Amino acid sequence: MNIVLLGAPGAGKGTQAARIQEKYHLTHISTGDMFRANIKGGTEIGKLAKSYIDAGKLVPDGVTCEIVKDSLKKTDGGYILDGFPRNLFQAQELDKFADIDLCLNLEVDEALLLDRICGRRMCVCGASYHVSTLNGKDVCEKCGKPLYQRDDDNPQTVKARLTTYENQTAPLKDFYLAAGKLLTVDCGTKNPDEVFESVCAELGKFNK
Ligand code: AP5
Ligand code: MG
Repeated sequence: MNIVLLGAPGAGKGTQAARIQEKYHLTHISTGDMFRANIKGGTEIGKLAKSYIDAGKLVPDGVTCEIVKDSLKKTDGGYILDGFPRNLFQAQELDKFADIDLCLNLEVDEALLLDRICGRRMCVCGASYHVSTLNGKDVCEKCGKPLYQRDDDNPQTVKARLTTYENQTAPLKDFYLAAGKLLTVDCGTKNPDEVFESVCAELGKFNK
């Protein structure tokens, strides 16, 4: 099963991808994570990506499609693409080098997103938290390492990311609807476990 995970910044793509990966034994491929690893490693891709990410804009399509193509070559079995494609061009390119079964769209009220993202705290192990549930703790519950905030998780950049999503990424819902591949989960105010139940119910409708 090859899944495109679609959703606004802060919709819970990373949170749900971790659960889907474990239950369905899929490889989780996140373009955002790959760019952040490149920035940390000081690579040329990282240097290019940083200015776009800090501005809440999309990294150019050429380099983005190439890193996805490369990681799919190294992947055995099914996968979840988290954060790719993010515009019509990327979706059309993806169809040239991959066989996507479905697009899982996480629908979340925009009013919830700013607080979710600005309150997010990350760990290098990949765990993600929200300050409201940390009770003042600043280390990871899973591995004990110090938590940090992503550079692009500030109100100004988040507003730009949301605008970019509305203008360039949200139209992909129609693209996958027309292809008969769109499954939407209305997340409402459900917590991550409740959202995952709905995700599993949707995926259960897909037999392959
Ligand atoms: P990326 O890293 O993909 O960021 P994003 O799309 O903005 O999404 P986030 O990672 O912020 O949110 P998420 O949906 O994963 O939510 P999460 O599960 O963490 O991309 C970053 C940048 O890279 C882009 O802006 C762009 O510049 C560049 N880029 C990436 N892909 C690209 C592409 N294809 N083309 C060009 N450029 C690209 O959850 C968020 C918070 O909410 C957490 O605190 C979590 O604990 C909490 N939470 C999750 N679910 C719930 C729930 N149900 N209830 C309450 N809280 C919840
Ligand atoms: Mg994410």
